[in-house]
Amino acid sequence: MFFLKEGFLGAKAPLFLDLVTIYFAILPILFGISILFAVKKMYKIHFISQSTLLATTVIFVIFFEIYIRMIGGFTELTKDETGLYFYFLISILSIHIIIAFLTVLCWFYLYITTYRIYKQEGIKAIEIKRHRKIGKLVFDGLITSCYMGVMIYILIFLA
Ligand code: HEM
Repeated sequence: MFFLKEGFLGAKAPLFLDLVTIYFAILPILFGISILFAVKKMYKIHFISQSTLLATTVIFVIFFEIYIRMIGGFTELTKDETGLYFYFLISILSIHIIIAFLTVLCWFYLYITTYRIYKQEGIKAIEIKRHRKIGKLVFDGLITSCYMGVMIYILIFLA
């Protein structure tokens, strides 16, 4: 299987994990750029970039889930770890999964509700504090979950 071959980052991780890790490392930067478009009142580009990022992220999560199941999941990756370090990894992973899940849920919620408001009442109606507030919350959640993911990669393959 092509994506199960050794990756190119030199960490001896499978290729799919290298690709997913790189994507999640740059996602907060792309997300920040999309928010900058909103700050600069370039709402059409803000909308297009949000739609693209949400769709791409869903594709990467599905891609990751399929291949991680194929290799036997997290337990297979950490089978050589023992004692406290194993429990440390499990704790970090659990927190990471909870934050990532809630973040994507909020992201979907904001996207769908904003799109509805936009269709029914126009772009002016979105200029309410709530959109800005939840948007920033999603941004914080994304930064936390993405860099925790990168940290887990480093802890398993490089530390
Ligand atoms: C249907 C898609 C979307 C549309 C049409 C849209 C439109 C807008 C508009 C009109 C504003 C300006 C609001 C204001 O002046 O207070 C705005 C700001 C913002 N949007 Fe969106 N948005 C969309 C999706 C999203 C999503 C999914 C996020 C993040 C998850 C997001 C994050 C933000 C943030 C953080 C701001 C505040 C920027 C600032 O500080 O001025 N937006 N958006």
